[in-house]
Amino acid sequence: MKKIIVLLAFLALPGLSSATSAEGYPLAKAPIDLHDQPSLQRGAQLFVNYCMGCHSLDYQRYNRMARDIGLTDDQVKDNLIFTSAKIGDTMKNAMPKADAKRWFGVAPPDLSVIARARGVDYLYNYLQTFYLDPTRPFGVNNFVFPNAGMPHVLWELQGMQKPVYAVHKDAAGTEVKTLTGFELVQPGTLTPPEYKEATADLVNFLAYVGEPIKLERQRIGIWVLLFLALATVVFYLLKKEYWKDVH
Ligand code: HEC
Repeated sequence: MKKIIVLLAFLALPGLSSATSAEGYPLAKAPIDLHDQPSLQRGAQLFVNYCMGCHSLDYQRYNRMARDIGLTDDQVKDNLIFTSAKIGDTMKNAMPKADAKRWFGVAPPDLSVIARARGVDYLYNYLQTFYLDPTRPFGVNNFVFPNAGMPHVLWELQGMQKPVYAVHKDAAGTEVKTLTGFELVQPGTLTPPEYKEATADLVNFLAYVGEPIKLERQRIGIWVLLFLALATVVFYLLKKEYWKDVH
């Protein structure tokens, strides 16, 4: 029994640890839903418009994406491909890695599996916590990924915000700053709730890209389990039949 409890605790650990980023920033849960195709489509639109200038999706093909998120090849060709790429191509971008490294200090990583590497909550909060910081090269910093080499590319949508702190003294009398929220210094084209929704769509899309087969896998999985359950009954009856003369 003890062993089982220890095992259960281990299984629960990753779930618990995803509640804060490595730097201790509390991560709000990303409200994503892989069944929500309009959300995935909006996410794809945001991705090609705002992210693909720097990031590629080397393992994702345009036509596969079209099929999975409920678009036709022509809709993708007309609205989501801005380069000379063909519908069967992978979603690469044209930025040479060496130049990118020179411009940003770090080459923007391929984002095909970023949702699995970092978790969706991380991405959701990362996209929401850029804040003004004049000491940084692009004038912004980030709470989830401090000193990130990426500019706040969605600032037109979100606007620019600065952090608001509460200052209090701890038992030893030293001042402690705790983040209580953000203040919008310059509004964007979206309201704060709309911006949250946009980032949820984007993260939903990246979660889909991280494992395009997920929904199908779950659908097939149910049948596999049913089959195994049925097979167990059949094999049990067979075993009884084979052994009945021996005992
Ligand atoms: C102007 C170029 C540029 C654009 C556009 C851009 N990024 Fe980035 N991004 C970068 C760079 C550079 C890095 C590497 C930052 C680092 O490691 O310091 C990065 C890193 C990231 C990371 C990795 C964070 C980590 O923990 O490793 C994620 C996630 C990300 N970008 C998401 C996005 C999304 C989503 C968009 C579109 C909304 C986007 N980026 C648009 C340049 C860009």
